[in-house]
Formats: sequence, structure tokens, C-alpha cells
Amino acid sequence: MELTWENLENAVRACRGCGLCERRLHTVLGEGNPHTPVLFVGEGPGRQEDEQGRPFVGPAGQLLDRMLAAISLTREMVYIANIVKCRPPGNREPTAAEAAACLPYLRAQFVLIRPKILVCLGRTAAMHILRPDIRITRERGIWVEKKGTLILPTYHPSALLRDETGQKKREAWQDLKSLREKMREMDLYPKEEKTWTQ
Ligand code: URA
Ligand code: SF4
Repeated sequence: MELTWENLENAVRACRGCGLCERRLHTVLGEGNPHTPVLFVGEGPGRQEDEQGRPFVGPAGQLLDRMLAAISLTREMVYIANIVKCRPPGNREPTAAEAAACLPYLRAQFVLIRPKILVCLGRTAAMHILRPDIRITRERGIWVEKKGTLILPTYHPSALLRDETGQKKREAWQDLKSLREKMREMDLYPKEEKTWTQ
């Protein structure tokens, strides 16, 4: 089948590739600007995301919106996806088998978007995209190049919401500034228009 957004959306909506299909209300493929140079990848839908069929719309999503705004980005300027497209019950981490079943969809999104930068939001994204044994507290903020894409692992916004000492928030802010710097270096901020069209 030809790889198009429409085919991908339909395939995910109908998917029964792992047990997470049983209890989902909606699949959550992702959303944003398909021409963006920057792809964000989280873990999987939570309760609100499952109810609405949209990524990062609950408390973590509201924080993500503020994080984007802090470096002059909006959701419409980036693309936001997850490792799994259906909600793991009780927001548990997706199993290795669930992630493996779902990863071809993220790969398809990657092929359609061809982002220059990929931001892994949290350990789950980083372990499936970078290395299974990644230590997010040690390796966050360190850029890794993989097949021409620059990858930045950072904390998941949910971890920042649970952060009591403020340490992770400070580190996440460093990572956001690093992302802004890299985007400036690579001339990736749009010039006059508010968004990318190509
Ligand atoms: N957490 C995630 O990892 N993804 C979402 O879409 C929402 C919350
Ligand atoms: Fe299919 Fe992914 Fe949903 Fe599993 S999580 S049913 S693989 S779309």
C-alpha cells in the first residue's frame, strides 16, 4: 500500500496489532505540521488523549504547550507523536511487544515528515528510538545523530510535573534552550510566516 497520511490514519484506526486495541476509545496517531523539521515523540496516550483521539491534551500536554511557547514554537509548527498509538491501561509503560507492534507506524510518520530534529520526550521514547538501556537522567541533553537526523533525549513532561526539587525542570529548560540554539544554527525557525508550508 502506498504510504500516505490518509492510508496511515486508516491503518492505525483499524489496527488490532496488539492487545492495547481492546480497551482503547480512540487511536492517537499524532498531529501537527507534516512539513515541520521537528518531531516530538512521547510514550503513549493517557486518559484524555484516549478520550479525544489527540496527543498531549491532558496535564502533560498543557505543560508541553508551555515548553514549546518558551522557545517560540506552537503545536501547529511541530509534529507530536507517541511510541504507541493506543492507551496502555492505567497509563502503564507499553510492553516491549506493544512497542514493537506499534513502531512501524512511527517509522512511517518519520518517513512522511523527514524531520531534521527528533526530540524524545522521556525514557520510553528514548529507549525505543536510541538505545534500550538509555539512562535519561544521564543522557538527556546530549544530541545524537542517527542517519542524518539529530536526536535530543529529554524528560517527559509528566516527569516534570512530578519533579519536587525543581532539578529536572532546570535541566529540561537547558534542553529546550539547546533545541532553540540548534534550530537557530540550522536556520529552522520560519522567517515571516508563522508556520512551515514546505
Ligand atoms: N503522555 C504521552 O506520552 N503522550 C501523550 O500523548 C500524552 C501524555
Ligand atoms: Fe495497533 Fe499500536 Fe494500537 Fe497496538 S498500540 S493496537 S499496534 S495502533
